[in-house]
Amino acid sequence: MSTVNTMRAISQDVLGGPEVLKQVEVERPRPRPNQVLVRVRAAGLNPTDWKHRATGGFLGEPPFVLGWDVSGVVEAVGIGVATFKPGDEVFGMLPYPFGHGAHAEYAVAPVRALTHKPSVIDHTQAGALPLVSLTAWQALVENADLQPGQRVLIHAAAGGVGHVAAQIAKARGAYVIGTASAGKHDFLRGIGVDETIDYRETDFAEAVKDVDVVLDTLGGETSLKSLRVLRPGGLVVSILPVGSEDLYTEAERLGVRALRMLVDADRAGMRAIADLVGQGKLRPTIARAFPLADAAEAHALGDTGRTTGKLVLTVD
Ligand SMILES: NC(=O)c1ccc[n+]([C@@H]2O[C@H](COP(=O)([O-])OP(=O)(O)OC[C@H]3O[C@@H](n4cnc5c(N)ncnc54)[C@H](OP(=O)(O)O)[C@@H]3O)[C@@H](O)[C@H]2O)c1
Repeated sequence: MSTVNTMRAISQDVLGGPEVLKQVEVERPRPRPNQVLVRVRAAGLNPTDWKHRATGGFLGEPPFVLGWDVSGVVEAVGIGVATFKPGDEVFGMLPYPFGHGAHAEYAVAPVRALTHKPSVIDHTQAGALPLVSLTAWQALVENADLQPGQRVLIHAAAGGVGHVAAQIAKARGAYVIGTASAGKHDFLRGIGVDETIDYRETDFAEAVKDVDVVLDTLGGETSLKSLRVLRPGGLVVSILPVGSEDLYTEAERLGVRALRMLVDADRAGMRAIADLVGQGKLRPTIARAFPLADAAEAHALGDTGRTTGKLVLTVD
């Protein structure tokens, strides 16, 4: 039971499988200048959560509380915060990677990481959106400057990033080609994908060509192979930022472009995402929502890499 100074959080003392996660009672954070304390109502889960749980990733050794997605209600604001007041409903992404800590009853966010939650979606939906939507927005709009009529190939289009990227690309007026196993093709068509590829049966590099932009959510061989489906001057944006330099040399050799990126917390991007939600052009699909205490179960499902849409933790 939390007291006024404490809160429940999902923490771990060692690296490992989902079983290392446990619910603990920790001190409730306080907002410092230009920070907002959010009473978390929902927090999305992302592959980076399972990767950090297992390997420590950017964070090193535990203990730590994971979670970058947040949707909730402003509990308190630090000195200088003019944009929000207690009671406001907000959502956003905590700075990646070191701002983590949303898988808890309360989280502190820099004011610029947040924006107001659109009233047309609930907290579970809003908590699912930030990290994947910012990733897709920064990849397709900020980096690739996707234009109406352009052809975009989205790998793993039924995944967390892919299913919002497909909707953002459609909202930009692009022609969207998406890969997924065959059982997910109806889902892809439902979110507006124009052309589907069953990656288990068909080699995408043989099936598509003259692509303007590839969103590479898989990395490795897929990054290199994706270069071959581009039109001259086309761009592969890979969100698996660690990889060999071969990608750049091969891109240059083929007369195309490649870049690797990490998502960056940003209010302008969150506002653009909130606008798309408000216009009915972007909705997350919730694969499953779990109460905070069942975070380990959610991680185990996420670890499979087979979910459609998003996993979310909800906090009562
Ligand atoms: N750089 C960054 O800032 C950044 C940001 C966000 C995510 N990421 C990374 O991007 C990757 C994707 O993230 P996510 O949230 O979208 O993951 P996710 O939701 O776990 O992706 C699951 C989806 O991947 C599909 N999939 C698996 N293998 C596939 C393949 N070979 N071809 C096509 N689809 C395949 C699955 O569909 P099937 O069941 O049909 O196989 C499933 O629907 C992760 O590695 C994540 O860490 C990086």
